[in-house]
Amino acid sequence: MPAELKAQTKLEHHIKYSPVPRELRLWGEMIVYSIIILIVVSAYYFATNASFSERILNRAVGDVALLLIGFSLVLSSICYFWDFADKYIIYRKHLGLVGSGYMTIHIVFSILFSAYSPFPGYYLEDKRIASFIGALIATAIFVLLAAISNRFAIHEIGATRWRKLMRLGYIGFVFVLFHFGAKGIQYWTPWLTGKSESIFPSFSLIVFMFGVGVVILRIALWFSTSQKSKLGN
Ligand code: HEM
Repeated sequence: MPAELKAQTKLEHHIKYSPVPRELRLWGEMIVYSIIILIVVSAYYFATNASFSERILNRAVGDVALLLIGFSLVLSSICYFWDFADKYIIYRKHLGLVGSGYMTIHIVFSILFSAYSPFPGYYLEDKRIASFIGALIATAIFVLLAAISNRFAIHEIGATRWRKLMRLGYIGFVFVLFHFGAKGIQYWTPWLTGKSESIFPSFSLIVFMFGVGVVILRIALWFSTSQKSKLGN
Protein backbone atom coordinates (compact mmCIF):
# COMPACT_ATOMS: atom_id res chain seq x y z
CA MET A 1 0.00 0.00 0.00
CA PRO A 2 1.56 3.37 -0.96
CA ALA A 3 2.74 5.32 2.08
CA GLU A 4 0.42 8.28 1.65
CA LEU A 5 -2.54 5.93 1.25
CA LYS A 6 -1.67 4.17 4.51
CA ALA A 7 -1.41 7.55 6.31
CA GLN A 8 -4.73 8.58 4.78
CA THR A 9 -6.37 5.31 5.91
CA LYS A 10 -5.11 5.89 9.46
CA LEU A 11 -6.41 9.45 9.35
CA GLU A 12 -9.86 8.30 8.19
CA HIS A 13 -9.86 5.54 10.84
CA HIS A 14 -9.01 8.06 13.54
CA ILE A 15 -11.75 10.47 12.43
CA LYS A 16 -14.27 7.60 12.32
CA TYR A 17 -13.55 6.14 15.76
CA SER A 18 -12.66 9.18 17.82
CA PRO A 19 -14.76 12.14 18.88
CA VAL A 20 -15.34 14.31 15.83
CA PRO A 21 -12.37 16.71 15.67
CA ARG A 22 -13.53 20.26 15.42
CA GLU A 23 -11.57 21.95 12.67
CA LEU A 24 -11.43 25.25 14.52
CA ARG A 25 -10.02 23.58 17.64
CA LEU A 26 -7.30 21.87 15.59
CA TRP A 27 -6.27 25.18 14.01
CA GLY A 28 -6.29 26.87 17.41
CA GLU A 29 -4.17 24.10 18.96
CA MET A 30 -1.68 24.20 16.10
CA ILE A 31 -1.28 27.98 16.34
CA VAL A 32 -0.73 27.73 20.13
CA TYR A 33 1.81 24.87 19.71
CA SER A 34 3.63 26.86 17.02
CA ILE A 35 3.90 29.89 19.34
CA ILE A 36 5.29 27.62 22.08
CA ILE A 37 7.87 26.28 19.57
CA LEU A 38 8.74 29.87 18.56
CA ILE A 39 9.27 30.80 22.24
CA VAL A 40 11.50 27.75 22.84
CA VAL A 41 13.56 28.45 19.68
CA SER A 42 13.87 32.16 20.62
CA ALA A 43 14.95 31.17 24.16
CA TYR A 44 17.74 29.07 22.63
CA TYR A 45 18.90 32.10 20.61
CA PHE A 46 18.67 34.30 23.73
CA ALA A 47 20.78 31.82 25.69
CA THR A 48 23.44 31.39 23.02
CA ASN A 49 23.72 34.95 21.64
CA ALA A 50 24.71 38.24 23.21
CA SER A 51 21.69 40.05 21.80
CA PHE A 52 18.36 39.34 20.09
CA SER A 53 18.30 41.30 16.83
CA GLU A 54 15.66 41.49 14.09
CA ARG A 55 17.89 39.13 12.14
CA ILE A 56 17.72 36.51 14.87
CA LEU A 57 13.94 36.90 15.01
CA ASN A 58 13.83 36.18 11.27
CA ARG A 59 16.03 33.12 11.73
CA ALA A 60 13.79 31.83 14.54
CA VAL A 61 10.68 32.28 12.35
CA GLY A 62 12.42 30.43 9.45
CA ASP A 63 13.36 27.63 11.89
CA VAL A 64 9.74 27.27 13.08
CA ALA A 65 8.55 27.13 9.44
CA LEU A 66 11.01 24.34 8.71
CA LEU A 67 10.16 22.41 11.89
CA LEU A 68 6.39 22.53 11.31
CA ILE A 69 6.62 21.59 7.62
CA GLY A 70 9.12 18.86 8.58
CA PHE A 71 6.76 17.43 11.24
CA SER A 72 3.94 17.45 8.68
CA LEU A 73 6.06 15.52 6.16
CA VAL A 74 7.58 13.05 8.62
CA LEU A 75 4.19 11.96 10.00
CA SER A 76 3.55 9.82 6.88
CA SER A 77 6.81 7.91 7.41
CA ILE A 78 6.40 7.57 11.19
CA CYS A 79 2.81 6.31 10.85
CA TYR A 80 3.93 3.85 8.18
CA PHE A 81 6.61 2.23 10.35
CA TRP A 82 5.10 2.66 13.83
CA ASP A 83 1.72 3.20 15.47
CA PHE A 84 2.62 5.50 18.39
CA ALA A 85 1.99 8.73 16.43
CA ASP A 86 -1.28 7.69 14.76
CA LYS A 87 -3.31 10.12 16.85
CA TYR A 88 -1.22 13.04 15.57
CA ILE A 89 -1.93 12.33 11.89
CA ILE A 90 -5.01 14.61 12.16
CA TYR A 91 -2.60 17.54 12.51
CA ARG A 92 -0.76 16.87 9.24
CA LYS A 93 -2.56 19.48 7.17
CA HIS A 94 -2.53 22.06 10.00
CA LEU A 95 1.20 21.56 10.58
CA GLY A 96 1.92 22.11 6.89
CA LEU A 97 -0.31 25.17 6.52
CA VAL A 98 0.67 26.88 9.79
CA GLY A 99 4.30 26.16 8.78
CA SER A 100 3.60 27.84 5.43
CA GLY A 101 2.24 30.82 7.40
CA TYR A 102 5.55 31.14 9.29
CA MET A 103 7.34 30.70 5.94
CA THR A 104 5.39 33.67 4.57
CA ILE A 105 6.32 35.82 7.60
CA HIS A 106 9.98 34.75 7.18
CA ILE A 107 9.92 35.76 3.49
CA VAL A 108 8.27 39.13 4.26
CA PHE A 109 10.91 39.81 6.99
CA SER A 110 13.66 38.75 4.55
CA ILE A 111 12.43 41.34 2.05
CA LEU A 112 11.62 44.17 4.46
CA PHE A 113 14.32 44.04 7.17
CA SER A 114 17.12 46.52 6.59
CA ALA A 115 19.68 43.81 7.47
CA TYR A 116 18.97 42.31 4.03
CA SER A 117 18.80 45.51 1.98
CA PRO A 118 18.88 46.40 -0.81
CA PHE A 119 16.31 43.93 -2.08
CA PRO A 120 16.90 41.99 -4.34
CA GLY A 121 20.56 43.05 -4.77
CA TYR A 122 21.49 41.53 -1.38
CA TYR A 123 20.37 38.07 -2.53
CA LEU A 124 21.86 38.35 -6.00
CA GLU A 125 25.44 38.60 -4.72
CA ASP A 126 27.61 35.65 -5.77
CA LYS A 127 27.87 34.16 -2.27
CA ARG A 128 24.07 34.20 -1.75
CA ILE A 129 22.51 33.55 -5.16
CA ALA A 130 22.55 29.72 -4.95
CA SER A 131 20.88 29.80 -1.53
CA PHE A 132 18.35 32.33 -2.88
CA ILE A 133 17.47 30.17 -5.92
CA GLY A 134 16.97 27.19 -3.57
CA ALA A 135 14.65 29.37 -1.44
CA LEU A 136 12.67 30.50 -4.51
CA ILE A 137 12.13 26.93 -5.76
CA ALA A 138 11.09 25.76 -2.27
CA THR A 139 8.72 28.72 -1.93
CA ALA A 140 7.08 28.00 -5.31
CA ILE A 141 6.54 24.35 -4.33
CA PHE A 142 5.11 25.12 -0.87
CA VAL A 143 2.80 27.83 -2.26
CA LEU A 144 1.46 25.31 -4.80
CA LEU A 145 0.94 22.64 -2.11
CA ALA A 146 -0.76 25.13 0.23
CA ALA A 147 -3.09 26.16 -2.62
CA ILE A 148 -4.20 22.56 -3.24
CA SER A 149 -4.54 21.57 0.44
CA ASN A 150 -8.33 21.59 0.39
CA ARG A 151 -11.20 19.26 -0.45
CA PHE A 152 -12.13 21.15 -3.61
CA ALA A 153 -8.63 20.66 -5.08
CA ILE A 154 -8.56 16.94 -4.12
CA HIS A 155 -11.90 16.51 -5.87
CA GLU A 156 -10.79 18.42 -8.99
CA ILE A 157 -7.32 16.82 -9.30
CA GLY A 158 -8.36 13.31 -8.25
CA ALA A 159 -7.16 11.67 -5.00
CA THR A 160 -4.41 9.51 -6.55
CA ARG A 161 -2.86 12.31 -8.58
CA TRP A 162 -3.24 14.71 -5.61
CA ARG A 163 -1.32 12.32 -3.32
CA LYS A 164 1.47 12.05 -5.91
CA LEU A 165 1.57 15.86 -6.23
CA MET A 166 1.91 16.20 -2.45
CA ARG A 167 5.22 14.28 -2.68
CA LEU A 168 6.67 17.45 -4.20
CA GLY A 169 6.80 18.64 -0.58
CA TYR A 170 9.92 16.49 -0.02
CA ILE A 171 11.66 18.12 -2.99
CA GLY A 172 10.72 21.56 -1.64
CA PHE A 173 12.03 20.48 1.76
CA VAL A 174 15.41 19.42 0.31
CA PHE A 175 15.67 22.84 -1.37
CA VAL A 176 15.04 24.52 2.00
CA LEU A 177 17.82 22.43 3.56
CA PHE A 178 20.10 23.60 0.75
CA HIS A 179 18.86 27.21 1.20
CA PHE A 180 20.28 27.52 4.72
CA GLY A 181 22.71 24.57 4.70
CA ALA A 182 24.79 26.16 1.92
CA LYS A 183 25.44 29.19 4.15
CA GLY A 184 25.36 27.41 7.50
CA ILE A 185 28.07 24.83 6.85
CA GLN A 186 30.90 27.32 7.43
CA TYR A 187 29.52 28.09 10.93
CA TRP A 188 28.77 24.44 11.77
CA THR A 189 32.18 23.01 10.87
CA PRO A 190 34.06 24.48 13.91
CA TRP A 191 31.45 23.05 16.29
CA LEU A 192 31.38 19.66 14.53
CA THR A 193 35.18 19.41 14.61
CA GLY A 194 35.39 20.46 18.27
CA LYS A 195 37.06 23.79 17.41
CA SER A 196 34.19 25.98 18.62
CA GLU A 197 34.35 27.74 21.98
CA SER A 198 30.63 27.21 22.54
CA ILE A 199 29.34 23.90 23.82
CA PHE A 200 25.97 24.62 22.17
CA PRO A 201 25.58 24.06 18.42
CA SER A 202 24.03 26.75 16.23
CA PHE A 203 20.27 26.23 16.14
CA SER A 204 20.42 26.05 12.35
CA LEU A 205 22.57 22.89 12.71
CA ILE A 206 19.92 21.33 14.98
CA VAL A 207 17.11 22.04 12.49
CA PHE A 208 19.32 20.86 9.62
CA MET A 209 19.91 17.51 11.38
CA PHE A 210 16.17 17.22 12.00
CA GLY A 211 15.57 17.93 8.29
CA VAL A 212 18.08 15.26 7.26
CA GLY A 213 16.22 12.82 9.56
CA VAL A 214 12.93 13.65 7.78
CA VAL A 215 14.51 12.96 4.37
CA ILE A 216 16.20 9.71 5.55
CA LEU A 217 12.90 8.38 6.93
CA ARG A 218 11.20 9.18 3.62
CA ILE A 219 13.94 7.31 1.70
CA ALA A 220 13.55 4.34 4.09
CA LEU A 221 9.81 4.42 3.43
CA TRP A 222 10.30 4.55 -0.32
CA PHE A 223 12.77 1.64 -0.05
CA SER A 224 10.37 -0.40 2.09
CA THR A 225 7.36 0.16 -0.19
CA SER A 226 9.31 -0.58 -3.38
CA GLN A 227 10.73 -3.81 -1.82
CA LYS A 228 7.20 -4.87 -0.86
CA SER A 229 5.79 -4.16 -4.32
CA LYS A 230 8.70 -6.12 -5.89
CA LEU A 231 7.96 -9.09 -3.61
CA GLY A 232 4.27 -8.77 -4.53
CA ASN A 233 5.06 -9.08 -8.27
C1 HEM B 1 12.40 33.78 -1.29
C2 HEM B 1 12.25 33.15 -0.18
C3 HEM B 1 13.21 33.25 0.99
C4 HEM B 1 14.08 34.22 1.36
C5 HEM B 1 14.36 35.54 0.66
C6 HEM B 1 14.75 33.77 2.56
C7 HEM B 1 15.73 34.47 3.24
C8 HEM B 1 16.50 33.96 4.26
C9 HEM B 1 17.64 34.61 4.86
C10 HEM B 1 18.14 36.01 4.50
C11 HEM B 1 18.13 33.79 5.80
C12 HEM B 1 19.35 34.05 6.69
C13 HEM B 1 18.89 34.83 7.89
C14 HEM B 1 20.10 35.45 8.61
O1 HEM B 1 21.13 34.77 8.77
O2 HEM B 1 19.99 36.61 8.99
C15 HEM B 1 17.33 32.60 5.79
C16 HEM B 1 17.53 31.51 6.61
C17 HEM B 1 16.63 30.49 6.76
N1 HEM B 1 15.48 30.30 6.02
FE1 HEM B 1 14.86 31.43 4.47
N2 HEM B 1 14.24 32.56 2.91
C18 HEM B 1 13.30 32.19 1.98
C19 HEM B 1 12.57 31.02 1.97
C20 HEM B 1 12.55 30.10 2.99
C21 HEM B 1 11.66 28.99 3.09
C22 HEM B 1 10.62 28.62 2.04
C23 HEM B 1 11.93 28.36 4.27
C24 HEM B 1 11.28 27.16 4.93
C25 HEM B 1 10.10 26.72 4.74
C26 HEM B 1 13.03 29.04 4.89
C27 HEM B 1 13.64 28.67 6.06
C28 HEM B 1 14.83 29.18 6.51
C29 HEM B 1 15.61 28.62 7.61
C30 HEM B 1 15.25 27.38 8.42
C31 HEM B 1 16.73 29.42 7.75
C32 HEM B 1 17.87 29.23 8.73
C33 HEM B 1 17.58 29.97 10.03
C34 HEM B 1 18.74 29.73 10.99
O3 HEM B 1 19.79 30.34 10.82
O4 HEM B 1 18.57 28.87 11.88
N3 HEM B 1 13.38 30.10 4.08
N4 HEM B 1 16.34 32.72 4.86
